[in-house]
Amino acid sequence: MDLKSLIRDIPDFPKPGIVFRDITTLLRDPQGLRYTIDFLAEKCIDAGLKADYIVGMESRGFIFGTPLAYKLGVGFIPVRKPGKLPAAVYSVEYELEYGTDCLEMHQDALHPNSRVLIVDDLIATGGTASATAKLVQKIGCELVGFGFIIELRDLQGRKNLPDVPIISLVEY
Ligand code: PRP
Ligand code: HPA
Repeated sequence: MDLKSLIRDIPDFPKPGIVFRDITTLLRDPQGLRYTIDFLAEKCIDAGLKADYIVGMESRGFIFGTPLAYKLGVGFIPVRKPGKLPAAVYSVEYELEYGTDCLEMHQDALHPNSRVLIVDDLIATGGTASATAKLVQKIGCELVGFGFIIELRDLQGRKNLPDVPIISLVEY
């Protein structure tokens, strides 16, 4: 299936000069949605990635991470923007183009030695995924890999990630 044909390009969003890759058109397509999850699961299995948990980042990482976890028969753990999780959290700050941002995960969400696959809709600079990896590794978990639907190659986000397998389904 041609996933790119289901992803809509929106010029000048959120800023002039940026072409936003919009996955809402993929999500609303029943066959496209099912194929995306099945294909991501297949690629993870083919790459030998054995995880006990999927960790997905707010908000679009939730959309793909949870059905992938269901499909693989593992649990899902949300990483959220600050102040959203109710129990004690670990936090990590990361650099944005201007300023910093922060992500949080429940302290008791993962046990040391758990195997974790990090899933998000898209990798751009890799800042979000790299920060999430730091949260996972802080707990002493084994990071087995990353899974993305979309990879924006020009931004070289891979360079900012730890040396584990990185799967993406569509590249721009
Ligand atoms: C987008 C996207 C990734 C991140 C990728 O999320 O869903 O999480 O940016 O960019 P990076 O590789 O440069 O870090 P966004 O922060 O827009 O949040 P949202 O999913 O809540 O819209
Ligand atoms: N599309 C969706 N999310 C994004 C993009 C994009 O092109 N760049 C950074 N986050």
